Amino acid sequence: MGSFQDRVAVVTGAAGGIGAGIVRALAAGGAHVVATDRVDGLADKVAREVGADGPRWAAVSADLAADDGADRVIGAAIERFGRLDILVNNAGGGIIRPFLDHTLETMRETVDRNLWTSVLCCRAALPHMRDAGYGRIVNVGADSVRNGLFEHAMYNAAKGGVHGLTTGLAREFAPFGITVNTVAPTGTDTPTVLSRPPDAVERYRKTVGLIPLGRFATVEEVASAVTYLASGAAGFITGQVVSVNGGTAML
Ligand SMILES: NC(=O)c1ccc[n+]([C@@H]2O[C@H](COP(=O)([O-])OP(=O)(O)OC[C@H]3O[C@@H](n4cnc5c(N)ncnc54)[C@H](O)[C@@H]3O)[C@@H](O)[C@H]2O)c1
Repeated sequence: MGSFQDRVAVVTGAAGGIGAGIVRALAAGGAHVVATDRVDGLADKVAREVGADGPRWAAVSADLAADDGADRVIGAAIERFGRLDILVNNAGGGIIRPFLDHTLETMRETVDRNLWTSVLCCRAALPHMRDAGYGRIVNVGADSVRNGLFEHAMYNAAKGGVHGLTTGLAREFAPFGITVNTVAPTGTDTPTVLSRPPDAVERYRKTVGLIPLGRFATVEEVASAVTYLASGAAGFITGQVVSVNGGTAML
């Protein structure tokens, strides 16, 4: 029996590199996973991660920054499994460029992807967790908020909002048995990062140069921090931003 047996988890950004790793890790622990993203072919991807012998799962396509996307996803989890124990707000991703090269559109999209998705999923999930007297919310932030990485100002503004949401919600919902934490990765070797275009190679090298452990994180290293904070064992940890950063920023 895995440590997530009979738990129900919603994972956002589940089609992406880190999201797929989180789905894999939670399902391996026995959780029923409701995976959501806004890309085509989501169900096929999730089926591959969970595996034929894995727990029951569902895939729900939605734009989580728009209208009723988050409400539909959380509603689907409750309808299918009757409860919601874990919410992993992993959807996001940067539009990384010098601040003055952003358009209003790319600035808004950065905030939509990273902050609004998290805000709206928390808003949809919290009433169910409060009524049940139990919940684990794990947001995926970014270590670049702490070290001000090159060309990350707009991304850090959005992820900094996620870090701030974490402390506020942690205090407000602690009386209901709900913990809220953030995992803040440094650069992580996802399939997209590893197939980077040539013009991103120099930035990759510069970023690795800032990491005392001398490399990017693996997807599994980020996913294991997420699953720990999502577990029953992490019940006395709330309101924290936990860096998975190879020592880039310390404290
Ligand atoms: N890979 C890294 O180096 C790194 C570093 C620090 C933080 N992060 C964060 O980790 C998380 C996962 O990153 P990743 O590298 O796997 O990125 P990714 O681009 O592979 O996956 C992110 C997923 O989020 C989804 N998404 C974005 N906006 C959405 C919306 N409005 N509605 C629904 N889905 C939406 C995308 O479709 C995508 O599948 C992100 O929040 C990212 O900002 C990544």
